[in-house]
Amino acid sequence: MQTASTLKMLRRSLGALRNEGGTIALVPTMGALHEGHLTLMRDAKSACDHVVASIFVNPTQFGPNEDLDAYPRQLAEDSAMLESEGVSLLWAPTVEEMYPKGFATSISVSKVSEGFCGADRPGHFDGVATVVCKLFNQVQPDKAFFGEKDYQQLAVIRTMARDLDLTFPHADAIVGVPTVREADGLAMSSRNRYLTPEDRERAATLPRAMQEAIARIEDGQNVTRTLAALEDELLGAGFDRVDYAELADASSLERLDTRSSGPARLLVAARIGGTRLIDNMAVT
Ligand code: PAF
Repeated sequence: MQTASTLKMLRRSLGALRNEGGTIALVPTMGALHEGHLTLMRDAKSACDHVVASIFVNPTQFGPNEDLDAYPRQLAEDSAMLESEGVSLLWAPTVEEMYPKGFATSISVSKVSEGFCGADRPGHFDGVATVVCKLFNQVQPDKAFFGEKDYQQLAVIRTMARDLDLTFPHADAIVGVPTVREADGLAMSSRNRYLTPEDRERAATLPRAMQEAIARIEDGQNVTRTLAALEDELLGAGFDRVDYAELADASSLERLDTRSSGPARLLVAARIGGTRLIDNMAVT
C-alpha cells in the first residue's frame, strides 16, 4: 500500500494506479478505524479494482466546543489495518495541505443539512460537504463509499453531488453501506471509546429503544407519543440528554408527524456521559 501525504505524492500514486487500469473506489474516513470502516473497505474492494482510503481529521466540521483535539489519531495502526484489507493507496494529508493559506471557499447544502445534527452542530455539514468535494476532486474516484450510520451526512453528500453535477463520482455512484453494530446492537463509532464501561452498557438501550419505537410506529401507533416515549426511555436509562428523536422521510429528511406511505427513517442523537451518540434505522 502506498501512502501519500501531499497532493504531489497523491497525483503520482494515482497516476500509477490508473496506468494499471480498472476502476477506483474512494473511502473517506477520519481514521480511528473500526469494523464499520473495514466493512466500507471490503464493499469498496468488491465493487472496484482499486481502493483509495483517506484519513483526515477535518477541523472545519468540528464546532468550537467539540472534540477536535481529543479525536483519536492512530495513523500507524490504521495504516496496518488498511494494508491488510488490500487498500492500494492511503491519502493522509496534513491540515496545511488540505487548507493552504488563503483557503476561502465553503460548500453549503441547504434544506437536507438543516435539521437533526445540522441544528445541533452549526456549520458541521458545510465542513463535511467542502472537504468531501475536495476529496472527490483530488482522487476522482468512480465510486465513493460512506456509512449509513451518518445518515444525514450521506444525504448531504448525495445532494451536493447531484446539485453540482459531480462526475467523479456521479451522485448515483455514492454508495451507502448499512451500519455495522456491536453484539448488543450499539452502532460502531470511533466515539464509543470515550464511554466508561457503565455508560457503554447503558448505551445499548439506544438501539433497543429505537427498535421498540419502530415496531410501534409500524403497528400504526401515534408517532408523536411513540417518539416522546422513546425519549423518556433513554433519559430513564441514564442518557443525559436527547438532542433529537425524529421520524423523517428517508430521502428528503423532512420530518414526519405521521407515518407516510414512502420509506421513512427514525433518527436519534443522544448524549451519555459527555459523549454524543447518533443512530438511525429504516421504518418500513
Ligand atoms: O464520516 C466521516 O468520517 C467524515 O465526516 C468524512 C466523510 C470523512 C468527512 O470528513
